[in-house]
Amino acid sequence: MQLSVLPDPATLAAALAAQLVADLQAVLVVRAQAQVVFSTGATPIATYAELRRRHLHALDWRRVQLWQMDEYRGLPPVDLRRFSTFLRAHLIAPLQLPHRLLTGGENAAQLHAYEAAIAAAGGLDLVLYGVGINGHLGFNEPGSPFDAPTRQVVLHASTTARIEPVAGLRPQRAVTLGLGVLNAARRLRVVAWGPAKRPALVRGLLQSPDPQTPLSSVQAHPDLHVFVDAAAAP
Ligand code: GLP
Repeated sequence: MQLSVLPDPATLAAALAAQLVADLQAVLVVRAQAQVVFSTGATPIATYAELRRRHLHALDWRRVQLWQMDEYRGLPPVDLRRFSTFLRAHLIAPLQLPHRLLTGGENAAQLHAYEAAIAAAGGLDLVLYGVGINGHLGFNEPGSPFDAPTRQVVLHASTTARIEPVAGLRPQRAVTLGLGVLNAARRLRVVAWGPAKRPALVRGLLQSPDPQTPLSSVQAHPDLHVFVDAAAAP
């Protein structure tokens, strides 16, 4: 594992964006199209802004296909909390990325087909993970097997508590790519900043792998690079 500790979130965003561009440039030397999963959430917003502002012309973004890591179930199409809305605003529209998104309404067969489509495209080249405060990856909550498939899930209370309520309601269920397909990516990058993430990073990166901390499933990966700020550093 490579660990980069940057002094603050802004410096972290710049360093991570440069790393992602270097990763994609390397992939595009050997593959016609890169298959990527980029996390949603507050954590990578500044990193995606760096990609748009500083790296717009660093590569042919039309050769980067974006797959969606996870999505809430049961939200109306116009709900701004949808991760697909986030991805369109921060990455897909400004960078003109080809994309294969989730609706959150997929049944088990459709989720199996989504995972099969990733395999048919040659598998994932690059995954950027954020980390939940309980150590979740995507919506693979604590207790998820490390070979978990892409599936419907029930969110843990610690996760739903952090979702912004609309009319007093928070989504309780979701769909997520499984740890199996995500961790099979040829390159894994993890980003976290702020003191709230530090306990999950300590459990996930410094202690023995344990399904109660899904982050710990990345430890065995041969090409893992973790980016944190000083406050989150494990
Ligand atoms: C969310 C998403 C994850 C994300 C994580 C951290 O609920 N399911 O993909 O990485 O939790 O979110 P944030 O960056 O807002 O802390």
